[in-house]
Amino acid sequence: MKQYLKAMLSVFLISLISTILSCSEKKEVEDKVVPARPNNRVDLHSHANLDEVKTKHLHLDLDVNFENNTIYGIARHSIEQLKETDSAIFDIKYLDIQKVTVGKEKEKETDYVIGQHDPILGAPLLVAIDSSVQFINIYYKTTDKTEALDWLAPELTEGKKYPFMYSQGQAVLTRSWIPLQDSPSNRITYSANVKVPNEFLAVMSANNPIEKNEKGEYHFEMKQPIPSYLIAIAIGNLEYKSLGENCGIYAEPELIEAAAHEFEDLAKMIDAAESIYGTYQWDQYDLLLLPYSFPFGGMENPRLTFLNPTLVAGDQSLVSVIAHELAHSWSGNLVTNASWEDIWLNEGFTVYFENRIMEKLYGQDVAAIHQVIEFEELQRSLKKLDDEDTKLKLDLFQRNPDEGLTDIAYIKGAFFLRTLEELVGRPTFDQFIKNYFNDFSFKTLKTEEFIAYLDKHLLKKKDLKFNTAEWIYSSGIPKNCIEVKSERLDKIQDFAKKLDQPKVLSKFKKIKREDRTTQEWISFIRHLPADITPKEMKAIDKQLSFKDCGNSEIMFEWYLLSINRGYTLVRPSMEKFLNRTGRLKYIEPLYESLFHSRYESDKTFALKLFDKSKKNYHPIARQSIAGLAKMK
Ligand code: BES
Ligand code: ZN
Repeated sequence: MKQYLKAMLSVFLISLISTILSCSEKKEVEDKVVPARPNNRVDLHSHANLDEVKTKHLHLDLDVNFENNTIYGIARHSIEQLKETDSAIFDIKYLDIQKVTVGKEKEKETDYVIGQHDPILGAPLLVAIDSSVQFINIYYKTTDKTEALDWLAPELTEGKKYPFMYSQGQAVLTRSWIPLQDSPSNRITYSANVKVPNEFLAVMSANNPIEKNEKGEYHFEMKQPIPSYLIAIAIGNLEYKSLGENCGIYAEPELIEAAAHEFEDLAKMIDAAESIYGTYQWDQYDLLLLPYSFPFGGMENPRLTFLNPTLVAGDQSLVSVIAHELAHSWSGNLVTNASWEDIWLNEGFTVYFENRIMEKLYGQDVAAIHQVIEFEELQRSLKKLDDEDTKLKLDLFQRNPDEGLTDIAYIKGAFFLRTLEELVGRPTFDQFIKNYFNDFSFKTLKTEEFIAYLDKHLLKKKDLKFNTAEWIYSSGIPKNCIEVKSERLDKIQDFAKKLDQPKVLSKFKKIKREDRTTQEWISFIRHLPADITPKEMKAIDKQLSFKDCGNSEIMFEWYLLSINRGYTLVRPSMEKFLNRTGRLKYIEPLYESLFHSRYESDKTFALKLFDKSKKNYHPIARQSIAGLAKMK
């Protein structure tokens, strides 16, 4: 029997057995059906049989239709067969597969089977092959359930005239717009021919056009091998402005000048990054300013970082996100986590590197402020997370990989590296990380490989002892974690804590918002007395107008405190904010607080607001808030 048919039969049998079991006594079911964690897979979040067949190059033929919000595509896989097999397994989720062929010049239809759909992983697509097959072509179209793509009506763009579409692949969403082996453990090169209506510009995480062409036909090449989650596309009424020799920004015309001004330090940032860890490996580095629904602050798609427009604050106060996404050009894109359980290798290194770039450009003071704020966030998260999830190496078996997206991977990861740096000294540590990036460039690795590398090339070499295993495999923060301090934050926190003292208050009353940085105000808000009253908050708003200051980070902190303290005067401003931005970092905590508020009116306010605003959010944000609403 053919292997893929065998596989299908076993899927069928497993579901049959569990159905039978679920009819027997409950206690027994619990004992029997808890599936064991497979220990022979690098990546639990892909169905692909990468040990047998691997895509080496992917060519995409895409026709993008804005009338029915559908991509009609052909995914042409050039494969390598590593072991004898009669099937190649791809990941798909909510895709409509039309036919599958093999061959290049002469294509021949081949059999395929779609396995059982899993709510997180989607379904395996098993394609019948023999040992001569080198090319597999999957004809498909996206559906209205496709999670990676956000199709925006014109009203949701800045210009309000043209629709917009963009993708978000990380972690396991690429399979919802391209049928492929969706695992970070495999790297592929890709190319694409994309056809769009001629009033649009199409851009990808590849070499990009800088102006529209009349036919609306664009060709893309990504010649360096990348993991599948970094394949990305955006289509809209976009313009380009150069910001230096090898960098620039794409945005809607209405936003391009403001964005170019906000990020004018981009070329300097690239220089700073290169001076720390060596040459930028992706030739060009551009930014793409997306509409407000973009669910993240930034996404490090290679050659083209996707950005949330809330970063255009007017005063360059949120550029650390750019430093972060740029840093991913080394940690993440060049050296990649092999599975989502190793995500700290991407994000922890990136937060560490981001801060080094900030220090180089804006000084030690600014870098220290960011570190202190991060550390406070880490403390808050530690209180909320399950112990198991405070380990750097995660267990995400049967879980959505997005659950690993916490301050642990980001901030505990960065503090692990800072603690190591303190032990060995900066010059030695810099050389070590630089070598690590070189030795693993265009590769993927697991935590265990990093530990072995660290042991061999740093600790043993210098005859040093370090509690690496505790940092990585134990919960919480080890005792030897470095301490961070910032005088500027200490001072503003003092104001916050002692506002009830008349002397402090009268001094405070002379301060204007421009006198302190965004990060200082964030810290100020977080350290206000826990029993602050709505009346006191109103007085602060009168002086500093936090509630509609336009800086998304400050407004977010202020709204969160407002919900907690019953300061309802912020509602109209908060409503405007939540209606417009779809950034998860803001909307999840705000909706969650509203749904769990002591005040019934907050809950009804939030439900009504979500109902009105959900069309403005990316599908994954919509799902997430709907989930929170159900749990309330
Ligand atoms: N790669 C992440 C975003 C991400 C991670 C999306 C995992 C989906 C799954 C990106 O680099 C990121 O960390 N963005 C942060 C920026 C911040 C930490 C500076 C964000 O969006 O807030
Ligand atoms: Zn990141």
